[in-house]
Amino acid sequence: MSAPLLQLTEVTKSFGGIHALSAVTSGVPEGKIVGIIGPNGAGKTTLFNVITGAYRADSGAVRLNGAALNGLPSHRIAREGIARTFQNIRLFPSMTVWEHLLVVQPHGEAWWRRLLPVGWGDPAAQVRAEEVMEFFGLTDLRDRPAKSLPYGLQRRVEMARALTARPKLLLLDEPVAGMNHDEAEEVRQLMLKLRATGLTILLIEHDMNFVMRLCDYLYVLDFGVLIAEGTPSEVRTNSRVLDAYLGKDE
Ligand SMILES: Nc1ncnc2c1ncn2[C@@H]1O[C@H](COP(=O)(O)OP(=O)(O)OP(=O)(O)O)[C@@H](O)[C@H]1O
Ligand SMILES: [Mg+2]
Repeated sequence: MSAPLLQLTEVTKSFGGIHALSAVTSGVPEGKIVGIIGPNGAGKTTLFNVITGAYRADSGAVRLNGAALNGLPSHRIAREGIARTFQNIRLFPSMTVWEHLLVVQPHGEAWWRRLLPVGWGDPAAQVRAEEVMEFFGLTDLRDRPAKSLPYGLQRRVEMARALTARPKLLLLDEPVAGMNHDEAEEVRQLMLKLRATGLTILLIEHDMNFVMRLCDYLYVLDFGVLIAEGTPSEVRTNSRVLDAYLGKDE
């Protein structure tokens, strides 16, 4: 396998006495879809927060294409080519789909810049917004305020917004949470199309059917510790993984 696009080395993060991440080492190869699974509280979202600079790791390294990201502010990391969506949807309720695709990421630069529709008057941003809107099947909904959309479509708006920045690496925190089977399948097909364009995706998800059928490779976290990794079929039959999910009677 070639050198990974994203490389985490011994990443550690504690909150008081809680070891959210204990020396996590993992890699995400370019052009692949990699999944992170694990029970509630395993440290999955914390890992995303460390990668994107929302949290600073206590120790360890995060590298994108070999360049260290540790200690950089979120907006710099975004500019290096990492975009994300959030476990709890972060949309502006009254803003339309189209407006969401023209504002900067919610973890963008200074707070006041988030209030500026940066895409207005910028033809390139508008072309890109049209492109992702079309890709996610949102074009007919362009003038709808976010709050009027069903949950599954709000998640799509978040994914579309993350892609307007043309990231190299897309981080998705539970992209199909709350979706029914058909909606999740549509998202799975969209992710496969994105991978075909060369995009690299790292995603967190509890929907095992979705994860197992989509990801090229999986990491399994439990209480902040990486307990297994491998292809979906390797992980599916790993006894430590089964124990973590089903609970041990020891
Ligand atoms: N800002 C914070 N302050 C204190 N503790 C935190 C903070 N963020 C996360 N934690 C703790 O770190 C641990 C890991 O949380 P995290 O949100 O990363 O889990 P998760 O794997 O994403 O879980 P879920 O599947 O429920 O989303 C939990 O014990 C959580 O309570
Ligand atoms: Mg989480």
